[in-house]
Amino acid sequence: MSIYIRYIRRPLSILKRLLQPVVVAFASWLHGLGIFLLVSARRLVRLIERHTIDTTSDRFVMELPQLHRKIRQELQAQRREYDSYAYFHGYPYQALAILDVFGERGTEERFDAYELADLVHREDHLLDIGCNCGFMALYTAFRTGCSADGIDINPYMIRIGQHCAEFLRLQDKVKLVAQPFQDYKPGQTYTVVLSFATHWTDDCNYRVRLQDHLLRIHGMMTDGGLLVFESHSADVGNAEFYAALEEMRAYFSWEGHRLMARGTRELYLMRRIAT
Ligand SMILES: C[S@@+](CC[C@H](N)C(=O)[O-])C[C@H]1O[C@@H](n2cnc3c(N)ncnc32)[C@H](O)[C@@H]1O
Repeated sequence: MSIYIRYIRRPLSILKRLLQPVVVAFASWLHGLGIFLLVSARRLVRLIERHTIDTTSDRFVMELPQLHRKIRQELQAQRREYDSYAYFHGYPYQALAILDVFGERGTEERFDAYELADLVHREDHLLDIGCNCGFMALYTAFRTGCSADGIDINPYMIRIGQHCAEFLRLQDKVKLVAQPFQDYKPGQTYTVVLSFATHWTDDCNYRVRLQDHLLRIHGMMTDGGLLVFESHSADVGNAEFYAALEEMRAYFSWEGHRLMARGTRELYLMRRIAT
């Protein structure tokens, strides 16, 4: 058994780790090729129909290359300048299928899985903490009509989100800010807060006690407001994590709790209690 671990399993896992960035870079290149083919297909259709491309009917496809050029420039700048850990080998942690943005975790799929269409309403004002590109906030505003603020420490991801918000013409409804959450002082309270995989971070830019994280959020919410809280995989089954959550029962009432992502994460719906 130890020979198997020493000569087969360990070298294989090292090889896998070494290959990962190459595979992700290749996948991103394939994705870019997909966008090129999409635009070419639209051009062909217009050619056969003898219509010229026009912005009213073709904007979403024909302006994609410009949007993606801006995204590439942000990623290149991040590679050159960002001295903190970059998630997903330097690509966005979040993908956004409606704008063909390549990333690790699908926004539309998470929106459906967390049932945000039922939980968030047009009159809500939402805050997304550690929002990465802000796609969860952006897509929730796109689908529900709510207004949203997103905050993340990574300015490159925030700028990618801002380019996408402009593309969707949602820049007046969705404000994305590059700032550490520790320093964030909102001018108003929120009716919905999203805290997804961000109550402690792999880049070590946010390491506070879970109780303190939840208390700060409590202070930013309206009474009866909803906190949608997604754990990390490492929290699942962790007794300390559950004990910390239990301590917060005086501040939030649990409305729902379920396992997500094939049992690797937990999602909590927590309603703010006035204290
Ligand atoms: C694991 S990602 C989660 C992203 C997003 N919440 C999601 O679930 O799709 C953690 C995010 O937290 C951000 N982050 C790390 N430290 C932060 C801090 N002090 N303030 C705000 N954002 C922070 C990172 O830049 C990263 O985008």
